[in-house]
Amino acid sequence: MTPRWLFALEAERVHALVGFGLKIWGKLPRSPQMPNPALAQKILGLNLPNPIGLAAGFDKNATMVAGLSRLGFGAIEVGTLTPKAQLGNPKPRVFRYIPQQSLQNSMGFNNKGVAKAAQRLENLPPLPCLIGVNLGKNKDTPLENTLSDYEKALKASLGVGDYYVFNLSSPNTPNLRDLQNESFVDELFSMARERTHKPLFLKVAPDMPSDGLLAVCERAIKAGAKGIIATNTTIDYSLLPGARQSGGLSGRVLEAKARVVFEEIARAFFGRAVLVAVGGISDAKEAYERIKMGASFLQIFTAFIYQGPTICRQINQDIVKLLQQDGLSSIHEAVGIGQKR
Ligand SMILES: Cc1cc2nc3c(=O)[nH]c(=O)nc-3n(C[C@H](O)[C@H](O)[C@H](O)COP(=O)(O)O)c2cc1C
Repeated sequence: MTPRWLFALEAERVHALVGFGLKIWGKLPRSPQMPNPALAQKILGLNLPNPIGLAAGFDKNATMVAGLSRLGFGAIEVGTLTPKAQLGNPKPRVFRYIPQQSLQNSMGFNNKGVAKAAQRLENLPPLPCLIGVNLGKNKDTPLENTLSDYEKALKASLGVGDYYVFNLSSPNTPNLRDLQNESFVDELFSMARERTHKPLFLKVAPDMPSDGLLAVCERAIKAGAKGIIATNTTIDYSLLPGARQSGGLSGRVLEAKARVVFEEIARAFFGRAVLVAVGGISDAKEAYERIKMGASFLQIFTAFIYQGPTICRQINQDIVKLLQQDGLSSIHEAVGIGQKR
């Protein structure tokens, strides 16, 4: 559990403190971690040691990757990174709702620019986890030039990611979510497919009507996306009485909604795309549920903030027990088992 006193400090201050600790920890000598073969999978040619990933937004600038990898994450997604550095929205912009184990953030893609992060990733020693690179547009780029922002960001980070994610789903960059339309995703993935053979993912919001969302995912897959990451934070403020009227909600209040959206996507695309579930996952029961729905792997963010550094190992250990209870010998057998029945 995260020590309670840390919650008395302003959220971004704690994040900076933790980041400092992780940077140092990442530099200390390490003994190799033995992955549990029951949890390992080969996905799109990539070796994923276990199904618990860290969602985008925690390590925006790729400064903590080595330290984070020691906490046992199977994949770490850095970013969102934009072509140019930008400050993001004014502070305070992260709010805790402790009884609800939830957060609300309106960060606005604060980051030091994709080139710096790419350089850091290039200088890292080999790590026992996958690295995802999550890309976005600068706030001051006019909407009609967005494609060129994604292209610049991709070009600047080619070679450093195991997979790439196009984030069109943050609620904190004006009009970004409008780009979750068929014509833009078609252009976006067609452009990216020309530039790289690495797996490309679309990260979607949970707030779109289902028909539109499935149509956008379909088009992305046809244009070259290998997977869908569902979901980003929600702007459905009815989920949290007393929520602020701006910024995205994450954590427990998002759990049910993200699960429903993920299930719709899984019903439509399981077997045709790699599916990654994120949103409100805080224990092995929920993680395993989404694996059975069709998630090849999962990502967590808010539960990591509330439960602290042991969460990843805990969930992984508990997933092994759930697999045993179901008489399954590997996670691969569990992925999408609910769709196959
Ligand atoms: C403070 C904060 C910052 C985030 N920043 C990003 C981001 O830069 N890019 C992104 O794709 N998602 C971002 N997210 C969304 C998470 O990656 C994740 O999709 C969402 O929080 C739901 O997962 P959770 O309920 O486990 O937190 C952010 C979330 C939080 C709480």
